[in-house]
Amino acid sequence: MSRAAELRRLVNSYQLSQAIHVAAVLGIADLLADGPRSSDELAEATGTDPRALYRLLRTLSAFGLFHEDAERRFSLDELGDPLRSDAPESVAGWAAFVGRRNIRDAWSSLEESVRTGENAFRLAHGISVWEYRAQHPEESEAFDRAMASSSQLVIQSLIDAYDFGRFGTIVDVGGGNGTLLRALLAEHPQLNGVLFDQPHVVAGVELGERGRVVAGSFFESVPEGGDAYLLKWIIHDWEDEEAVAILRTVRAQGGTLLLVERVVEPPNEGPETKLGDLNMLVGPGGQERTLEELRSLLETAGYELSGDTPTASGMHVLEGAPV
Ligand SMILES: C[S@@+](CC[C@H](N)C(=O)[O-])C[C@H]1O[C@@H](n2cnc3c(N)ncnc32)[C@H](O)[C@@H]1O
Repeated sequence: MSRAAELRRLVNSYQLSQAIHVAAVLGIADLLADGPRSSDELAEATGTDPRALYRLLRTLSAFGLFHEDAERRFSLDELGDPLRSDAPESVAGWAAFVGRRNIRDAWSSLEESVRTGENAFRLAHGISVWEYRAQHPEESEAFDRAMASSSQLVIQSLIDAYDFGRFGTIVDVGGGNGTLLRALLAEHPQLNGVLFDQPHVVAGVELGERGRVVAGSFFESVPEGGDAYLLKWIIHDWEDEEAVAILRTVRAQGGTLLLVERVVEPPNEGPETKLGDLNMLVGPGGQERTLEELRSLLETAGYELSGDTPTASGMHVLEGAPV
């Protein structure tokens, strides 16, 4: 492929992303889990237009997600398999989230965001992502599923690299629907856990005997009694002022701080982290940070950066010791 053709494919990649999103929303991969089906059968099962669905599926087959045979029957190909909702490392929740209109509208404001430095979601919708989700329960649920889906991709790497079982009680601050904490409790039979997040996020979440669920705001207080306070993908959601405010609330409880974040790599490296950083500019209005930037945030909030454990997934487990 020429450089121009390669670039053109990148330019058009949002169209492919949207096509995958639609396949995820329609649950096509789940419908193909037991074997091939014709596009007409799939159209019937999903209540979609047969011709339009066929065009969607043949496109995704040309990109390697599905396989189309001579009778217009489709099966799952290796690349499309993680679109199943029950795949071990399912991408279904993320794909079903990323193409939602409120998210795409925010990305449409990226130019204005780059010109002004303002958060694109707020430019598009007039309120923060968190206010928006509190007002739109279905968007909140789609986001929580996306986070759970993204967590599934990295949880094993965290467990392999870092011994969370050294603590008696871990408080997962902003822990969403508890996907990570549930995995940690299953891995470490002696561990107790507290899931802490906004009331509409943790409503109805259950964690079993060793898990407790507490609702609240990390700008006000976090549950006491944690030997460790785990914040995964929290600090990157916020600009420095709010990030320090959250860390100070956590610091008030003592205990070891465990940040799980990506760390911005040197120039020309780390495309996932840097695209993730743009996601922060567009979505919640935060940023990915270098190790030095994270160290400085921690120091401002009363912690010393006492450990940095890189993991195979690219996430780091950063330890903060209260000073
Ligand atoms: C990017 S998500 C990360 C979720 C989870 N830790 C994970 O890694 O999948 C950020 C989380 O912060 C929570 N959050 C936002 N504002 C909050 C607040 N004021 N108090 C408590 N949690 C909040 C959101 O509800 C969301 O679950």
